[in-house]
Amino acid sequence: MKLLLLGSGGREHALAWKIAQSPKIEKLYIAPGNAGTRNVGENVAIKADDFEAIKTFVLGNGVNMVVVGPEDPLVKGVYNFFKEDEALKNIPVIGPSRAGAVLEGSKEFAKEFMMRHNIPTAGYKSITADNLEEGLAFLETLEAPYVLKADGLCAGKGVLILPTLEEAKKELKEMLGGMFGNASATVVIEEFLSGIECSVFVLTDGKNYKILPEAKDYKRIGEGDKGLNTGGMGSISPVPFATKEWMQKVEDRIIRPTVEGLAEEGIEYKGFIFFGLINVKGEPMVIEYNVRMGDPETESVMLRIKSDLVELFEGVAAGNLNEKTLEIDERAAVCVMLVSGGYPEAYDKGFAISGLDEVKDSIVFHAGTAVKDGEVVTAGGRVIAVSSYGANKEEALAQSFAGAQTINFEKKYFRSDIGFDL
Ligand code: AMP
Ligand code: GLY
Repeated sequence: MKLLLLGSGGREHALAWKIAQSPKIEKLYIAPGNAGTRNVGENVAIKADDFEAIKTFVLGNGVNMVVVGPEDPLVKGVYNFFKEDEALKNIPVIGPSRAGAVLEGSKEFAKEFMMRHNIPTAGYKSITADNLEEGLAFLETLEAPYVLKADGLCAGKGVLILPTLEEAKKELKEMLGGMFGNASATVVIEEFLSGIECSVFVLTDGKNYKILPEAKDYKRIGEGDKGLNTGGMGSISPVPFATKEWMQKVEDRIIRPTVEGLAEEGIEYKGFIFFGLINVKGEPMVIEYNVRMGDPETESVMLRIKSDLVELFEGVAAGNLNEKTLEIDERAAVCVMLVSGGYPEAYDKGFAISGLDEVKDSIVFHAGTAVKDGEVVTAGGRVIAVSSYGANKEEALAQSFAGAQTINFEKKYFRSDIGFDL
């Protein structure tokens, strides 16, 4: 099989690493990829949302399957682009249709979907400039802190958590006034939920599903989970509170109703669903849906999948995922992210990265890297994910922290407390 993976981050390097292990793979292409993905496949200089260029490449190179890493091409309808094209329609795309991607693309749609299917989530109200008064009144009924979410995609920045009613009212007006452009023309006001978060992933063919290993990511830049939100500073899997009993609740109350709800509503969905959950006094509730894998969760989760991922993808495409097996590695897996000093605010790029080949007991996934004059250099805020196995998370973390010390670049920073709260 010739497989094309779309995307360029740490998530995509981890997916590519796993896909490349499949004996079914004759050729793996990554578009556009990064300096790490070229070690497990061939990078192709095409943007992940340039559908015409993707079409030309797929047809010209006999690609048999396309796997989509990031949400952007999904929300823009890459699945439909293939299905509606005479020449492409028989080439499976692993990822939801445009209608399915709205679960991530619109917070309002996601909330309404959960209401329709009785899926536990925070109480909310959806507000536009036309019913601002209703929004202000709803805020008065809530207790601090206040959660405001831009309806549309904002590259992970569209959620504000405000400590006072005054700030919440002020920010609501600013969001509706265009703080995030059109993405915040509708704002979802939510009840604040208190608990520890957990990311649960499934792969579905639209009818059957497989639950992948769960993970927890560490979103804040600072130790002790302080400071600004980032794309994610590290992850661990398994998550201790995600016991068999808890996961059964997740499956019964959240996963099954979601997959059945999508099918009932006639929404085509053949891909990953990422349930962003929060554990409220032992009860799982949905914070958000994403229509792709998490980053940096993938950099832990892929280590724990023993089965052939490509065979699972074939089950997704054929609609017989129930006939495939998913075997999970019992070991712990973790990832520690090395980032550019200054991130998530301004930072410099182009610093040479050393020590990549000296890391012995971890798997080094590239996130924001590029090749310049034959040398691997930093090219993003999140630069390298150091992933490791261990008999338990402490052992795995010790490996990853050792790897994090071995790799160097100017202004390197990482959190040395990943996993601390569990
Ligand atoms: P989201 O983009 O919806 O995942 O929100 C970003 C982050 O904001 C989440 O990972 C949570 O940490 C936090 N958050 C979102 N919604 C809520 C909520 N209703 N209660 C508490 N925290 C929330
Ligand atoms: N790690 C969270 C995300 O990928 O959205």
